[in-house]
Amino acid sequence: MNITEPATIVDVALGDRSYEIAIGAGLISEAGERIAAVRPGVRVAIVTDTNVAAVHLPALEASLDAAGIAATPIVVSAGETSKSFDGLQHVVDGIIAARLERHDLVIALGGGVVGDLAGFASGIVRRGMGFVQVPTSLLAQVDSSIGGKTGINTPRGKNLVGVFQQPALVIADTAALDTLPEREFKAGYAELAKYGLIDRPEFFAWLEASWREVLSGGPARTHAIAEACRAKAAIVARDEFETGDRALLNLGHTFAHALEGATGYDGGRLVHGEAVAIGMVLAHRFSARLNQASHDDADRVEAHLRAVGLPTRLADVPGGLPGAEALLAYIAQDKKVSRGALTFILTHGIGQSYIAKDVPAEQVLSFLKESYDP
Ligand SMILES: NC(=O)c1ccc[n+]([C@@H]2O[C@H](COP(=O)([O-])OP(=O)(O)OC[C@H]3O[C@@H](n4cnc5c(N)ncnc54)[C@H](O)[C@@H]3O)[C@@H](O)[C@H]2O)c1
Ligand SMILES: [Zn+2]
Repeated sequence: MNITEPATIVDVALGDRSYEIAIGAGLISEAGERIAAVRPGVRVAIVTDTNVAAVHLPALEASLDAAGIAATPIVVSAGETSKSFDGLQHVVDGIIAARLERHDLVIALGGGVVGDLAGFASGIVRRGMGFVQVPTSLLAQVDSSIGGKTGINTPRGKNLVGVFQQPALVIADTAALDTLPEREFKAGYAELAKYGLIDRPEFFAWLEASWREVLSGGPARTHAIAEACRAKAAIVARDEFETGDRALLNLGHTFAHALEGATGYDGGRLVHGEAVAIGMVLAHRFSARLNQASHDDADRVEAHLRAVGLPTRLADVPGGLPGAEALLAYIAQDKKVSRGALTFILTHGIGQSYIAKDVPAEQVLSFLKESYDP
């Protein structure tokens, strides 16, 4: 049973599109009250996936019902394939069939897949409806539910079609993570640690000491998620549309996307957060190799992620990888290469990451070659 603790509130300051993130154990059972408070008299559609519907939909429906909010569930298949034009059509059709109006709300109950899909649908039905995120994966609670990026994949690549659509409210029930598979939890942990590595060295040190309590739940988990939300909210408030600083959120992601591409986006081999864990270690090692940071910091990052149970090296990818040239090709595909130079998020040390716009491709290649055999 969920034990309700007082919610921690984090503000996302975006002028007239500002909103609150409420974080705490048991908050799904208070969602109806919170939604009624921001949008009195509203009707809603709840977009969720098959896995999440089985464990958390009844509690959300009961809470909405108790607050007098009529709700229509729209359930999609669990998994990335729902972030497609077919999945979008299903969700859009469900919202219209429920006769929701422009001022009504779409609630995303689930991980990043549901959040991105439902958010996009809410942004285009009736030229833009209201939207509430109820993230249920750790990745969604610390990353995808905040900041307003929504969208779907196309056969030519991930996240190529979408809109910026900020939610009106985010409700992160930290106890909902108790049903998340451990592998997914750890994958989300990589994104959590990312915020310490970007610009919060004290947070990274706190995680090194407290990660076991974060995994087991309770106040430490809520604290960690709230700190991550503060970190992301601060970056998004500075640079909502990613013209500058928001790119720091891609720490480790250039390498990660190459690893995901090289493993055919096969989650059985590598899930996104695992790729990010390896990518963040590589970003620190590469920075050290370029004399920007110390090898000790890279060792520290690797030791922590490894202790948590995340992969940290190319050799950890099950089923093997293609050679360094092939990985570089994935990186060049992911990034705009201008005159042989690549943009990377590098670091001067833990919590001191920066955007490097002119990294020569041949330095990346020689670093990758070394990384196969550290
Ligand atoms: N919009 C953004 O800013 C942003 C940022 C990062 C990632 N993303 C996107 O997020 C997606 C990945 O998100 P994800 O890792 O949450 O994947 P996901 O939504 O597929 O969830 C992972 C798995 O966990 C299950 N699940 C979720 N919550 C659960 C719970 N409480 N109990 C039991 N099972 C649960 C899901 O059904 C799924 O099988 C990707 O599509 C990625 O592109 C978006
Ligand atoms: Zn990520």
